[in-house]
Amino acid sequence: MARLDVTETFHHISFPGHIHTQDSLNYACHFKFQDRDTVIVTYPKSGTTWMQEIVTLVKNRGDPQLSKTVPNWARAPWLEQYYSAKVLGATQGPRIITTHLPYNLLASALQGSKAKVIYVARNPKDVVVSYYHFHKMAKFLPEPNSFDEFLDSFLEGSMSYGSWFDHVKGWTKQAKVLANVLHISYEDMWLDLRGSMEKISAFLQCPLAGEELTSSLRHCSFSSMRDNAMVNYTLVPQEIMDHSKGKFMRKGGAPLLNKSTILTRDMFQSVPEGSNSTIGLPCTH
Ligand code: A3P
Repeated sequence: MARLDVTETFHHISFPGHIHTQDSLNYACHFKFQDRDTVIVTYPKSGTTWMQEIVTLVKNRGDPQLSKTVPNWARAPWLEQYYSAKVLGATQGPRIITTHLPYNLLASALQGSKAKVIYVARNPKDVVVSYYHFHKMAKFLPEPNSFDEFLDSFLEGSMSYGSWFDHVKGWTKQAKVLANVLHISYEDMWLDLRGSMEKISAFLQCPLAGEELTSSLRHCSFSSMRDNAMVNYTLVPQEIMDHSKGKFMRKGGAPLLNKSTILTRDMFQSVPEGSNSTIGLPCTH
């Protein structure tokens, strides 16, 4: 099957070109956020879809109707993709917006905004493995060669959406100083989904209790999401994602989660400016 091998470069960062244009990227950088917006920000493969599901459920007080009937990209559209101006411009009321953009590209658009930003980070060792498998099935990303080569590109930051290190540093720094930016990790959610959901719902000023919380937890479990066509990307044509090459909801969980391998906030801080290879990455693929 032919690859959609088109890449847009914007501020020295490459983006999958079939869904990103210079216009859509410019639109994102100058976006007018509203105070009632919830913005989900991630580096790819860090739990974006999971957070889209969690926020949808929280905002709907555990009612799964929306998450079972509307695809995630329609209810929590990507800010930087070609359709965003049309979709976001027409959306009334509180919006859920998703983005993979690094902080520096959104800094001026977010300045002074009260929009609530949720930044999800994931252990890079798991991100790189998940991203490698995603490159195999997503036809809009270059076909990867060996995992070692892929790992080198990841460490150099020459991937779509840029360097993981810069991304995490940029956003977590904001979370430390701004009350409207919440930093949560994939591992936090994996270890304690209930506690994470309570934290997220409190942050969104939409606290859940009783059945609302139980229902939200049930519908954003890995097994429930794996079987939900609105989030498992099986609705996407084979030319875009080839599910015979791998599943979007691949494995879940945190296979490298133990005391010696988990990446803590302290370790984020210890990544020196400009460095891109301070973390020894295992090959668990
Ligand atoms: P794996 O490839 O390691 O399985 P993103 O949505 O940012 O692209 O991230 C996708 C990753 O999140 C995949 O990781 C996917 O399985 C995982 N994921 C999605 N929903 C999840 C859930 N409910 N619980 C745990 N992991 C989930």
